[in-house]
Amino acid sequence: MDSKTSQLIDLQEQAAKLYHHILVNTEAGEPALNYLHDRGLTDETIETYQLGFAPSQRLLKPFFDQHESDYQLLRQSGLFIENAEGELRDRFTERAMFPLRNASGHVVAFSGRLIKKADDQPKYLNSPETPLFNKSRLLFNFDLARPAIRQAGEVTLFEGYMDVISATQAGVNNGIASMGTSLTTEQIYAIERTTDKLNVCYDGDEPGQRAISRALTLLGQHSHLNLSVIQLPEGQDPDEYRRAHGDEAFRQMLTTAKEPPLQFNLRFLRRNRALDTDSEQLDYVNQIMPLLAQVQEPVELDMYLNQVANEFHIDKAALQAQLKQTQRDSA
Ligand code: CTP
Ligand code: MN
Ligand code: MN
Ligand code: MN
Ligand code: MN
Repeated sequence: MDSKTSQLIDLQEQAAKLYHHILVNTEAGEPALNYLHDRGLTDETIETYQLGFAPSQRLLKPFFDQHESDYQLLRQSGLFIENAEGELRDRFTERAMFPLRNASGHVVAFSGRLIKKADDQPKYLNSPETPLFNKSRLLFNFDLARPAIRQAGEVTLFEGYMDVISATQAGVNNGIASMGTSLTTEQIYAIERTTDKLNVCYDGDEPGQRAISRALTLLGQHSHLNLSVIQLPEGQDPDEYRRAHGDEAFRQMLTTAKEPPLQFNLRFLRRNRALDTDSEQLDYVNQIMPLLAQVQEPVELDMYLNQVANEFHIDKAALQAQLKQTQRDSA
């Protein structure tokens, strides 16, 4: 690590310490601490993730000035916003702070969450890209999760920081999250170097389901990972599920709600469709044929064909004929 990198990391880690101190030891941190407790986080979890609070008044600037930190380094840290006069102001205010660590466990950036609704501001605010922080490379919690991923032989990919943290609190330590944006190939390669099995556990809402579909396609194209989808009840995210049903039920759900990608894709194609007219049903059958054509196991294929035949009262022989046609067309 060159000296500039280590100095930049040092700044991030000092900031993390300070934010954490404000959260757990000061009166200014109380609203945020209550917020995190109300969301079901224990003090132990708050320690593990070194969660913090950026208060409303300026915090980092006076602190670093006092330590005579280098102006150019501060500028590059992403912790400040610079005005036209070149003055630096704290970027994060009135937010619960989630330190983002790289794979080696060093803090390289932050994400700050509003603790009160504010319509004119994003719920999460991230550090900008810096020499330390590349959003498309970082996997949240990868440093802490790696031993558990190796031990379990699989990784669970969540959408949000709070899902990962919530899972940890339920004793599930092999969870990671991409950075809100959709999964990237760089992230996929990093995962594949650690394990060969991945469960996608995104939110049970429309954006979450769309993101699963995209992720499965990308994972299929760029990895040989053995993939499963963990299907949440409509509208719930993993953290909400744990809060509603408890740790034990959460752990259970992660194993019992697991399905193969094909099963997910069949269901995803049905989403938001009534399928109550002949033409809609035909359209659906035409769309699933290319998926079924890829099933290698005769028994598994037969199962799916039976499902479709029974559900739409279609002759199974007709389905088989159409499947053959699809296979010929794609050959
Ligand atoms: N995200 C973001 N900026 C936003 C909203 C979301 O960067 N304005 C990212 C965050 O990484 C977040 C993830 O997308 O964790 C998933 O978004 P969402 O499901 O909306 O948030 P939750 O993780 O459920 O956050 P919370 O439970 O705190 O509301
Ligand atoms: Mn502490
Ligand atoms: Mn979501
Ligand atoms: Mn969510
Ligand atoms: Mn959530």
